Amino acid sequence: MKVLFIGDVVGAPGREMVKEYLPKLKDKYRPSVTIINGENAAAGKGITEKIYKSFLEWGAQVITMGNHTWAKKEIFEFIDEAKYLLRPANYPEGTPGKSLVFIPVNNLEIAVINIQGRTFLPAIDDPFRKIDELIETAKKRTPLIFIDFHGEATSEKQAFAWYLDGRATAVVGTHTHVQTADERILDKGTAYITDVGMTGPYDGILGVERGAVLKQFLTNLPVRFEVLKEGKRQLNGCIVTIDEKQGIATGIERIIINDDHPFFS
Ligand SMILES: [Fe+2]
Repeated sequence: MKVLFIGDVVGAPGREMVKEYLPKLKDKYRPSVTIINGENAAAGKGITEKIYKSFLEWGAQVITMGNHTWAKKEIFEFIDEAKYLLRPANYPEGTPGKSLVFIPVNNLEIAVINIQGRTFLPAIDDPFRKIDELIETAKKRTPLIFIDFHGEATSEKQAFAWYLDGRATAVVGTHTHVQTADERILDKGTAYITDVGMTGPYDGILGVERGAVLKQFLTNLPVRFEVLKEGKRQLNGCIVTIDEKQGIATGIERIIINDDHPFFS
């Protein structure tokens, strides 16, 4: 079976790319499950219920989040009812929402988990200790475990993936918005990529309008970041091929769609 993962969808340009290309990607790869990281989907920070539901309508089964999970206040009103919306697992006990969901595929289930790094990100609970608990819970039901590790530091992401080699089917990195070319299958069968990249504006800086970012670097004065709405767009992600019987990955392929890398069906 195949799992399609679409990287951090940024604002309206990102959502429009998902709407346009998700059907084409499904035709091309025939994934059994599609996961979208939606933590930047509402104007660059957070998600709304309407956007969450539109991702499901367009064909995703699970939406993962990250450090901007709480950016739109309405999240607190719908996160507990949103069955397929995952927030990072390593927030303190009692935090609203969930971080693990089981998706039926044929006669099996795949567990999807969202967890966050803490190097150069807000100091939350230890993701290494927390993932041990979640894997133990998931393994009681299925050997297929797909993890979105939302992190900033390459070293932490690599360490996390090696920590889970042979215990998780896939560890894909999100958050940095730039796709890394290090996709591989680790020694014991875990598919890994440090970052799948982002989906949204192509000519911004990580999706943000360039002028404000440049002003901050040039002046160090406070600026307001806005998603770049006009111009070229991109979609980044990956497709993971899984051997269901063994619970390991046999392939991982990067997906990159932009003016320099046009989509071929
Ligand atoms: Fe993030």
